[in-house]
Amino acid sequence: MKRALTALALVPFFLTFAAADDPPAKRPTGDITRGKIVFENICGECHEAYSREEKVGPGLQGIKNGQLPTGRKATHDRLLDIVNDGPAEMPKLKDRLTEQEKEDVIAFVLTL
Ligand code: HEC
Repeated sequence: MKRALTALALVPFFLTFAAADDPPAKRPTGDITRGKIVFENICGECHEAYSREEKVGPGLQGIKNGQLPTGRKATHDRLLDIVNDGPAEMPKLKDRLTEQEKEDVIAFVLTL
């Protein structure tokens, strides 16, 4: 009986380790405040955040309403593609930002 209880008490540990091995790596969660800083440091060189005015690239204001400047749907995954691989005229920022910075800046851009 005692041994059975000990074994039972160990179950949560096994479950914890099993969960840690589970591959679908969770994305970091985006932080809007930090994202604003990333935006100002990197994206702001080419994009207005609070207007639609063209700088080097289009002004991004209005994305929270669901549409990108090109009229495509504004989704997290599409923004991640844009940041990583850049549309034609935009540089690829894949290796310039950490995964966390990408999530942060996407969270910020989705509020514009
Ligand atoms: C060196 C200039 C430059 C930088 C830096 C830059 N972009 Fe861009 N971006 C552009 C240009 C130019 C376009 C338009 C591309 C085109 O139409 O081919 C664009 C397009 C976009 C679009 C619109 C895509 C669409 O489908 O409407 C988004 C959103 C965007 N950029 C987000 C970002 C974010 C977020 C960052 C920072 C992480 C960033 N950009 C950094 C130049 C830049």
